[in-house]
Amino acid sequence: MLHSCNDANEITFPSFGGDTDALVVMEGGKDLPFQIARVYTITGIPQGTTRGSHGHKAINQIIVCLSGGVEMEVDDGSSKRRVTLDDPRIGLHVPPTLWTDTTYITADTVLMVLCDAPYDEAEYIRDYDDFKAFRNG
Ligand code: TYD
Repeated sequence: MLHSCNDANEITFPSFGGDTDALVVMEGGKDLPFQIARVYTITGIPQGTTRGSHGHKAINQIIVCLSGGVEMEVDDGSSKRRVTLDDPRIGLHVPPTLWTDTTYITADTVLMVLCDAPYDEAEYIRDYDDFKAFRNG
């Protein structure tokens, strides 16, 4: 099933804390739309850099910005949606079949990505023309 960019939804996780502190909970079976098979983190990317720039054929991901900020562009081949992530209480669920570009808007940004499958390079689409061909069947 091909997803639209509007299927990439923000999830607000339960949290505790005040104006500046936050304890954020992501509990399986309750707060997460899938079972986690893999978690990876991204750190140390210079401000202004755009990374990602690939699509996934098969996996679901939830991107959580634990510190700093990123602007995510989610592309379904015909429309795009931009989402700013700069709050550790909010994750962006990106279902499969979408292309994303991630621009690091703050130095020292810390991203955590939750995935529903182990790493598999074969399910990546790294070339935009290949992505368009994948979307167009
Ligand atoms: P990549 O997905 O290309 O990251 P970015 O698009 O941000 O540059 O991954 C970078 C490298 O890390 C690549 O060689 C694959 C490897 N990698 C893993 O081995 N396992 C993983 O779970 C991920 C996400 C990447």
